[in-house]
Amino acid sequence: MGKQRIEDLALFGGASTFQRLRPIAQLERPDRARFLAHLSRIDRRGPTPVLVPELEARLARFHDVPHVVAVSNACVGLLYLLHVAAGGKRGEVLMPAMTYAGLPHLAVWAGQTPRFCDVLEATHTLDPESVRGAITPSTTAILPVHNVNSPCEIREFEALSAESGVPLIFDAVHALGSSYAGRRVGSHGMAEVFSLHATKLLNGFEGGYVATRDGALAERLRGMRDAGDCSEPRGLDGRLNEVHAAMALSSLDDLEGVFDRNLQRFERYVRHARESEWLDVLPYRSGEAHNYEFAIHRVDPDSPLTRNQWVHLLRSEMAGAEAYYNPPLHRTAHRPQDTEMPHLPVTDELTHRFMHMPVGATVSLGDIDEIGSLVRFIEHRADEIAARMAPLSREVA
Ligand SMILES: Cc1ncc(COP(=O)(O)O)c(C=O)c1O
Repeated sequence: MGKQRIEDLALFGGASTFQRLRPIAQLERPDRARFLAHLSRIDRRGPTPVLVPELEARLARFHDVPHVVAVSNACVGLLYLLHVAAGGKRGEVLMPAMTYAGLPHLAVWAGQTPRFCDVLEATHTLDPESVRGAITPSTTAILPVHNVNSPCEIREFEALSAESGVPLIFDAVHALGSSYAGRRVGSHGMAEVFSLHATKLLNGFEGGYVATRDGALAERLRGMRDAGDCSEPRGLDGRLNEVHAAMALSSLDDLEGVFDRNLQRFERYVRHARESEWLDVLPYRSGEAHNYEFAIHRVDPDSPLTRNQWVHLLRSEMAGAEAYYNPPLHRTAHRPQDTEMPHLPVTDELTHRFMHMPVGATVSLGDIDEIGSLVRFIEHRADEIAARMAPLSREVA
């Protein structure tokens, strides 16, 4: 039975729409029998991995690149690359502020300083012109992040990297299966990095990998990862283990199925958004392949309820909406002390508007219909709800 009165909203004392939180995470579980079959192939007689090299080879075919190096998680892969890119120098890594909060940490671990640049309004990926203006002799890497709705402007960044001599590393964690100019991402720049975490598209429980065309780089990364062999002076043990590789291999068998199910959920959100006055769904870049991992909604500036109020209302109903990359990283402790606040107007505007909606394997099409009805109810009573929420703390303003 849907909501009839404002008091039926969980925020005002009613029963929540869902009993259990509907999250924003892929959480696909591959077929159990297939997983066990891969597990049974682990060689228990010695330490030599069997499944990790097989996974690397399959992923290299998937991305059409000569080299894939599996690692314990995407962060470790990015850390190795930032270290290699710096070539022993201390300098700055240029990155978006509207992204995963772990990235500036990695720059710091690699002995670098993060420097934040603005994003493009249309794709909310790093703006090549903002990066161009930030390059100095001390820039050691450009780190654009492909967003789920669109890969970065890869061609422009490759040109900028060639012109300036600054190494280019792509964080491709949300772009698995996406294409750019008709070609699957994975082969651009110095390298591209993907995650195998359970919340991501390809579930290995945990893990990550680096894809690259550069054989010497792949060799170096293996040396760093398998620290102990010590061909590399600055190694850090970051191997993927066989159990995680078994999980990732079984997930890989059904990856196209994951993309299809994501597309169905995304299309259901689009259908509901057509009836919404203040929420629309960000489109995926046209003419390219996508994984449809997220259904990011934009809250219209005319909505009587702010984006944070929408998030608060939906979460109280156990529909786990979340602000999308908010606060932006230049407005957090991630901005290094003693550096000026950068002027990032597009980032500042978009991080106030965008909201994640529940997605992934634990969210059914029926759940999305329930969320759609809830949104319609809230919109009908939006002025009244906004007035009742006004006295609530500033965090939901
Ligand atoms: C954009 C982005 N990059 C990197 C990572 C880190 O991935 P991992 O957990 O495999 O280290 C994440 C994880 O959320 C991410 O969203």
